[in-house]
Amino acid sequence: MDSHSQSTVIEVPQGSPLGKLAAPVVWLQHCLVDLFKGTGQKTAVSAEVRSILEHCRVRTDISDHLLTLFGAALSVSPRLIVELGVRTGESTEVLAKVARLCASRLVSVDIDDCSGVCDLPGWLFVKGDDIDFAKTFPAWARARGLPDRIDFLFIDTSHLYDHTVAEILHWFPHLSPGAKVAFHDTNQRRVYFRRDGSVGLGWNNARGVVAALEDYFKVNFAERSDFTEQLPGWLIQHEACCSGFTVLTRIPSMEARR
Ligand SMILES: C[S@@+](CC[C@H](N)C(=O)[O-])C[C@H]1O[C@@H](n2cnc3c(N)ncnc32)[C@H](O)[C@@H]1O
Repeated sequence: MDSHSQSTVIEVPQGSPLGKLAAPVVWLQHCLVDLFKGTGQKTAVSAEVRSILEHCRVRTDISDHLLTLFGAALSVSPRLIVELGVRTGESTEVLAKVARLCASRLVSVDIDDCSGVCDLPGWLFVKGDDIDFAKTFPAWARARGLPDRIDFLFIDTSHLYDHTVAEILHWFPHLSPGAKVAFHDTNQRRVYFRRDGSVGLGWNNARGVVAALEDYFKVNFAERSDFTEQLPGWLIQHEACCSGFTVLTRIPSMEARR
């Protein structure tokens, strides 16, 4: 495959009724998309953005959002980035680029051992449950000479309602006044579409992540479409494609800015 072709990671969910038929059908649909449609931004001046664009050519459940993740994290010039959910490290690689540019520290957490996915000098990987870790986080951070306030928090773990509610409850108190928080899978469904029209196969999380955000903000969100919303103390920007990606920006109060 030349470097300008699209390719795909087709994950057929365990126990999917679509079974083995799904992968060739999805592959064929992607070939048709590639024949008839452009696929968004193709080039960039900066090496970092070029490299993310190159990476995004492999279609995954997060490929549409890697550039948004990069922009959101970079825009706060973070001293400390915390990532919950690493798996194979797609988001970790992007956050490591931000950390290199801003001389930030990056702490990544996963219940599985993902310690080999990133070669950023000074990267800290914590193997364990993210809720347990949140409870001791400030002391843990101070003991390592890290800031105990998080400027950019990325949450991409179980996508379940109760767990996301707990993540908000336990991690939001550690945010700095102008922090951003990004959530993946805020529009998760069995079959999802990417920006270029290609389909992907996921699972139905019963709106777990977005429902937890609705509870926190005490509003309803129409996550099937893109939206921007402003609520007391927060700006909320949502991309509906590719399982959904929502960035929350904390707006410091006038008092905090004086
Ligand atoms: C969707 S994957 C993360 C994908 C990753 N952000 C990327 O872009 O490649 C979800 C990850 O969350 C981890 N996870 C699930 N529950 C967790 C928990 N309670 N604490 C920490 N990690 C958890 C899983 O082990 C899995 O690796």
